[in-house]
Amino acid sequence: MPPSRLLCCALSLVFACAAAPPPDVERRVDQLLARMTLDEKIGQMSQGASLGSPVSERSRQEIRAGRWGSFLSTIAFADRAEAQRIALHESRLSIPLLFGRDVIHGYRTMLPIPLAQAATWDPALVEQGARVAAREASADAIHWTFAPMLDIARDPRWGRISEGAGEDPYLAAALAAAQVRGYQGPSLDAPGSIAACGKHFVGYGAVEAGREYNSAWIPEILLRSVYLPPFHAASDAGAATFMSAFSAINGVPATGNEFLLRGVLRGEWQFDGFVVSDYGSVDELVTHGYAADQADAALKGVRAGVDMEMASNAYHAHLKALVAAGKLDEKLIDDAVRRVKFRLGLFDKPVPAAPDPTVFLAPESLAVARRLAAESAVLLKNDGALPLAGSIGKLAVIGPLADSPLDQMGCWTVDGRAGDVRTFLASLRERLGADRVIYAPGLKTPRDTARDGFPAALEAARAADAVLLFLGEDANMDGEARSRAFLDLPGAQAALAKEIAAAGKPVIEVIVAGRPLTFQETAAQARAVLYVWNPGTMGGPALADLLFGDAVPSGRLPVTFPRTVGQVPIYYAHLNTGRPPGPNDLGIPLGTPVDPHGFLSKYIDVDYTPQYPFGFGLSYSTFEYSAPRLSASSVPLGGRLDVAADVTNTGRYEADEVVELYIRGLVASVARPVRELKGFARVRLKPGEKRGVSFTLSTADLASYDAHMHLVTEPGAFQVWIAPDSDRGIPGEFRVTQ
Ligand code: GLC
Repeated sequence: MPPSRLLCCALSLVFACAAAPPPDVERRVDQLLARMTLDEKIGQMSQGASLGSPVSERSRQEIRAGRWGSFLSTIAFADRAEAQRIALHESRLSIPLLFGRDVIHGYRTMLPIPLAQAATWDPALVEQGARVAAREASADAIHWTFAPMLDIARDPRWGRISEGAGEDPYLAAALAAAQVRGYQGPSLDAPGSIAACGKHFVGYGAVEAGREYNSAWIPEILLRSVYLPPFHAASDAGAATFMSAFSAINGVPATGNEFLLRGVLRGEWQFDGFVVSDYGSVDELVTHGYAADQADAALKGVRAGVDMEMASNAYHAHLKALVAAGKLDEKLIDDAVRRVKFRLGLFDKPVPAAPDPTVFLAPESLAVARRLAAESAVLLKNDGALPLAGSIGKLAVIGPLADSPLDQMGCWTVDGRAGDVRTFLASLRERLGADRVIYAPGLKTPRDTARDGFPAALEAARAADAVLLFLGEDANMDGEARSRAFLDLPGAQAALAKEIAAAGKPVIEVIVAGRPLTFQETAAQARAVLYVWNPGTMGGPALADLLFGDAVPSGRLPVTFPRTVGQVPIYYAHLNTGRPPGPNDLGIPLGTPVDPHGFLSKYIDVDYTPQYPFGFGLSYSTFEYSAPRLSASSVPLGGRLDVAADVTNTGRYEADEVVELYIRGLVASVARPVRELKGFARVRLKPGEKRGVSFTLSTADLASYDAHMHLVTEPGAFQVWIAPDSDRGIPGEFRVTQ
């Protein structure tokens, strides 16, 4: 059995969490625990931040002493192999090290950022992407990824909205399970599998004002109905680990939160894997004002149920003394180590073999990345300018983001390499021939305010038949610690767009960003707008496929786009309020006399509706939806209802259409949102083709939390839509009866 497979076996023992491990494994864990000193147990609960490269003498000594159970951010394979060799052959108990890494959206083959992947509404494809990432990472002796990130986010000011699946718990839950399946494969000891880590448990996406690491105040009913479901789905899919969040939820830091970690995760969900803290978040319990000192932080972390401390050393420094002082029961430590499930001595000592280089950027992996990039692009506007004719004469390509590998890959590009990226510009030159592409960046970077590049860009536009204008953010504007108070195009990009529009040529805007941006004036100047997010290594070929019609845009927004940042938070699943505005109750021009009819839930200075709604996305084709057909007008509790609608491709292109199922509970003991996503399906239709698309809803699917935190389906009237997005569609009505 090859060493790497042996180590995978170790991992299957290490993470035998999905089902209760077989009794002989438990017996061996007991035997191992009985042999471990308290120091060695505490070592298994500690994840080191850096091995050093090459492995430092200090790391060597500490590994021999069993000081660490895991490392993150180890740079090179050779360092991991050497560290593993020391652990297996020079430590007392030969417990292998666990190497964790941020494989957030691909390893060497960089996939689109997670928010982009969410825009595919294609769990099967997202699962394939995670599989590609796991195959490459495991070949490089990475055992564990700190992904999927499952934080629901309704505030695009928060930079980490880029890392998750957007605003909706149903979509996010489907993608959470898909990623866990992709990373962990058929079993953790299967070749190409790595352990998943659902993060950041929980509610981190609700940080106030979108300000990073800020407090989050979430009523339990919202915690349970919006923020917890993706984590529950990941747990049900067998996620091996979870990571506790930095932020305080209702005043209690997630990393010290017994209610969340022991009450919900372990108690209600029976999760049997292990929990790792976030980077230094155990130490930060002191900074939060929740722990008196580092010893108190260590005590609260273990008691809350954090089994492994990432990067800080509170456990190593204090747990032994806490046990000796009778403040901490060693059984809690045994339970933590058991959950980390190190069971060794059961097989030969594998040191990972050097990876087969052909596993990286393999053609089949690049093909998955290209499909994800194509399916994640959302067509927000098109007056027919797209697709471009292959016979087009010259194409002006303008904007620094057209030729920026790192920005094309986006945030959390840890092992992706710029040299591997097929850039937008290179792919367009390849598609059209270099002589037909005129490139003028116009700006040095997306944040550049100097306009000396404008004349050349204008000249390029004038010399071309059409303009591709690349706009957006640089990759360092998204991700962790990248909160923005404004969502506008950075730098002088809006000015550049205005200048280019004046050239009078058809402009197609390609937006490269890790979050919703507010750019309606710029969008108004374009014939078409394609939101490609950060599409990764194969973003260039995918864009060429889309622009020239080899692929038809099918992406749908996983998050609402505001008109202005002043509308945030804005999301589709909002309550109706007592004074809902109508479709025409838009902004009231200032100076209008007080009009009691204007006393509605809206703004006086901007249209209260979003720029683009959740679930929205255009195609090159057009589709018509019939009214929904219901199998009954009422359904008894415990029953099921079939809902169907005909979807017709009324356009000229064969295309995929994401069909979305929404419901609304019209009356409940706790008022319910005006729409809730409860299903979706991707259908491919030829021009003129009509397909009946049907969904089955059980009354359990209609449940909501009441004021006592009971998840119940309350009898009453419901509406249901089969629609192209959260804003359109013809409602059907039915009742749930006792
Ligand atoms: C970071 C992030 C977390 C990441 C971890 C390790 O601070 O919050 O998502 O996995 O540290 O890099």
